Amino acid sequence: MTYANAHTFCVAPMMDWTDRHCRFFHRLLSPHARLYTEMVTTGAVLHGDRERLLGFDRAEAPVALQLGGHEPAELAASALIGAQLGFAEINLNVGCPSDRVQSGRFGACLMREPALVAQGLVAMRAALAAASQAVPVTVKCRIGVDDQDEHEDLRHFVQTLVDSGLQILIVHARKAWLHGLSPKENREIPPLNYARVYALKREFPQLCIVINGGIADANAIPGHLQHVDGVMLGRAAYHDPYVLARTEHALFGTPMPARDEVLRRLEPYVDAHIARGGALHHIARHVLGLYLGMPGARIYRRYLSEHMHRPGADFGVIENALRAMQMRQAA
Ligand SMILES: Cc1cc2nc3c(=O)[nH]c(=O)nc-3n(C[C@H](O)[C@H](O)[C@H](O)COP(=O)(O)O)c2cc1C
Repeated sequence: MTYANAHTFCVAPMMDWTDRHCRFFHRLLSPHARLYTEMVTTGAVLHGDRERLLGFDRAEAPVALQLGGHEPAELAASALIGAQLGFAEINLNVGCPSDRVQSGRFGACLMREPALVAQGLVAMRAALAAASQAVPVTVKCRIGVDDQDEHEDLRHFVQTLVDSGLQILIVHARKAWLHGLSPKENREIPPLNYARVYALKREFPQLCIVINGGIADANAIPGHLQHVDGVMLGRAAYHDPYVLARTEHALFGTPMPARDEVLRRLEPYVDAHIARGGALHHIARHVLGLYLGMPGARIYRRYLSEHMHRPGADFGVIENALRAMQMRQAA
């Protein structure tokens, strides 16, 4: 079976985790994955430090910019900035349940306001089209919030977005409870309901649907792809990044790079970052899980955690961590 669509395999937007360094590293493991930024609010895009918030290395491409916001004109202006900076997709966050997000009227609480979301999508597409930017506008949502009906309310929500022209939807296959659960609990406690997402694909066969939530293993992916168009991995990709190489191999036949080889390819990037005044730990914190499950992985992780913050730390710390791990393997 061949998988041709751009969203077959995606790595989820994750605040504080999927920054540019993380994405650069993930790209070394998976040439085909679609990578997502952390959520950036429209206020930050329009008024913040753009290089810090939106800067990325061309080698990360294709990268989707995830926006948080609700006001159509602000979404439109932010989407245009994102496209002009070279992002391959603009994704609207309709799934984040944090209090901060609710008070700003964006994220998961927008599942109650499908008409407003649709207006935002229309405004973004119009701004992009007017500037001849052929960049898709997508949505990432949940299957519901609070006491919303997972079938009828979700179907109505999706129908409204499809009527406004939506073509690509990512669905985190669990509800969000907007009161009483922390964002972390909202990623663990509401039960996963993959069947609901599969049913959505049957109801909207023209819509490209990407399923997300609790997918931890490359072997589980082909099963999902019998029902939907793509899968998105979040925490598993972060904690066990080699799952990216395994998935890349399973879906696209790409040879799996040796883990050491991945780090070797990261070296010039680390050197350049440090030469610009950056710190090793900005990058090294994302590679802690690379050897997960391998003999000596704990030694590697511990060495790196203990040394990457030290003044003057450079790529040599990663080499030493590898050496410490290899000595344990040889013992
Ligand atoms: C640390 C962390 C930060 C997250 N930040 C975002 C975010 O900025 N935008 C978003 O849409 N989802 C965010 N999520 C949710 C993930 O994108 C994903 O939907 C969720 O983790 C479920 O997928 P998983 O089970 O594969 O991790 C975050 C998740 C984690 C663990």
